Amino acid sequence: MAKAVVITVDGPGGAGKGELTRRLAARFDYALLDSGAIYRVLAYAARKAGLALFDEDSLVQEAQVLNLSFEPAADGVHVLLNGEDVSQEIRTEEAGANASKVAAHPAVRDALLQRQRDFRQEPGLVADGRDMGTVVFPDAQVKIFLDASAEVRAQRRELQLKKQGKTAEYATILQEIKERDERDRNRATAPLKPAPDALILDSTALTIEEVEEKALAFIKEKLGSV
Ligand code: C5P
Repeated sequence: MAKAVVITVDGPGGAGKGELTRRLAARFDYALLDSGAIYRVLAYAARKAGLALFDEDSLVQEAQVLNLSFEPAADGVHVLLNGEDVSQEIRTEEAGANASKVAAHPAVRDALLQRQRDFRQEPGLVADGRDMGTVVFPDAQVKIFLDASAEVRAQRRELQLKKQGKTAEYATILQEIKERDERDRNRATAPLKPAPDALILDSTALTIEEVEEKALAFIKEKLGSV
């Protein structure tokens, strides 16, 4: 039996993956996997449990029992840890940096692999992350790699934080983005890189509408009628 359709959207933080995956999932009525949220919640749970982010064995144990769920709401998908809404807490810059540290451990990634694959379902799935097309769903029917310059990603993040009423220093954001990129691109296991069969889309000079249009043209080419 043919496997349910998966559209993977990989790329660095701030390239617009979240917005693109939300739009695609809504358009096709597909399920959505925000794999970054899983690493963020694991890092958050580990910190709460007093674990060191370099303690791979303890992190694996935490990953195995992680009680995580996603709940759709009017203002987007909420992320629950042990039934408690941690959506706000896991979206800070610090939570992102901690997620990236946790995600660098190969055994931790292994422990989370099946949990991610279980999201594949009919009629389809849009999966957002770093290794969706390379490791988690290597047989995905459509693979997109969304990139953008670090400077533009920092600008977008600054704007997003300001809209939320938070103070944000552009230079600090840029520095953090570069550090996280460095860690994600250079780790030994599942480094951030495009799958050989991925469409590489650079969103630096594109609006989200233009990104969506290009993604849709590629999806049509791969899946036929959409
Ligand atoms: O996408 P997001 O910024 O929420 O991801 C947080 C961190 O989780 C990333 O910087 C990356 O280190 C890690 N991650 C990963 N593999 C994924 C998704 C996220 O390693 N598939």
